[in-house]
Amino acid sequence: MIKAPPGTKDILPPESEIWQKIEETARKIFKLYGYREIRTPIFESTSLFQRSIGEVTDIVEKEMYTFKDKGGRSLTLRPEGTAPVVRAYLEHQFPQKDQFQKFYYMGPMFRYERPQKGRYRQFHQIGVEVFGPSHPMMDVEVIAIQWRLFKELGIDNIEVVINSLGCEKCRPAYRERLVEYLRANRERLCETCQRRLERNPLRVLDCKNEGCRRVVREGPEITEFLCEDCKKHMEQVEKGLQQLGIPYRVDPFLVRGLDYYTRTVFEFIHKSLGAQNTVSAGGRYDHLVKELGGPDIPGIGFALGVERLVLILNARGLQEEKKPLYFILLGEDSLMKGMELMEKLRNNGIPVMWTGKTGSIKAQLRLANKKGASLVAIMGEDELNRHSIKIKNMETGEESEVKWEEVSSFLSSYYS
Ligand code: HAM
Repeated sequence: MIKAPPGTKDILPPESEIWQKIEETARKIFKLYGYREIRTPIFESTSLFQRSIGEVTDIVEKEMYTFKDKGGRSLTLRPEGTAPVVRAYLEHQFPQKDQFQKFYYMGPMFRYERPQKGRYRQFHQIGVEVFGPSHPMMDVEVIAIQWRLFKELGIDNIEVVINSLGCEKCRPAYRERLVEYLRANRERLCETCQRRLERNPLRVLDCKNEGCRRVVREGPEITEFLCEDCKKHMEQVEKGLQQLGIPYRVDPFLVRGLDYYTRTVFEFIHKSLGAQNTVSAGGRYDHLVKELGGPDIPGIGFALGVERLVLILNARGLQEEKKPLYFILLGEDSLMKGMELMEKLRNNGIPVMWTGKTGSIKAQLRLANKKGASLVAIMGEDELNRHSIKIKNMETGEESEVKWEEVSSFLSSYYS
């Protein structure tokens, strides 16, 4: 038997209903903030990710699904959504037409990681990207959207962690100090970090190895090195969050696994997730548009991992949707009338399900039970002659015979 590849999974009902609920809620909230949807291809030129995410990152070094197509092009299944959105923003000349844009997206991303709870090779992100504003209050707004989304989905115990990565003026000094410090502690670092230290020292801050973490926590903090502008930016972000009543914690060692960030970065953490506890993350990328060949336009955004959100919601248990009215039709004549009746009920917004079975009532009721039906409508010859249908509540056993023209109003309160 052929199975789904490791790190991928089928999303089956009823879990798919949680996915729909998340997507609907996100769309509704994005609209509230003036975002519009963008859909980009699943694969892009490999160089797009090499140039944006950074050559010396886990994603580009180890995790990309890269292949040559029959035309000899190097393509990569998108490992994230920001670079493709920037590419589309430039390709469609938004900077010339209307710089300020707010986009949202949802869809699958691909990273060749070691699969474990909350970490997959095909996973799904819902994210936003804003182009144009450099104002710190836009950082606050982007954090507020995520906060609202989690609240609306009834998720508590979420921790907002923020940091500033500085800018091209102040980061080099920090970097220099960090390298100096890490070199002095080289033997305490894992092998990968010893390599990272020379090529991309900020990545050491992201290492999950306990030993490396200890070294990092005893080392220099970027917040001490911020220039006046970056410091002011960070202060305003904090003030804005306080004004909106969003609790947060500053972690001076938060760097994120992608190279394009400047100034504000943030993560939303939920403890119940264990090792992979970041549900949502992002930050400001003021030079990415330029680095990808466009004008100097700042940007900021976030992406949340849908699978991780589903894990949280699954653990808590969502209220189940009402099951559709389950139709049992006995005999050819009642089938004809039944088809018409079902369409009429659907016209009135009542969900109706028919399995296509025409067997005995006993067999059909058994099937209804197996399908977990809570309300069943039964029509045989007798009901047909009386222009009515029997409605049976499978939980209480209660039965009522209802005239055809009254079925909709009889059921409307149940399905409202
Ligand atoms: P990221 O931190 O790489 O950022 O991913 C964002 C979120 O995607 C993570 O917090 C996590 O919930 C989810 N995620 C990442 N990898 C996996 C995986 N292997 N399995 C399951 N979930 C995963 C970005 O991708 C940036 N593009 C975010 C951003 C948007 N920054 C600015 N704008």
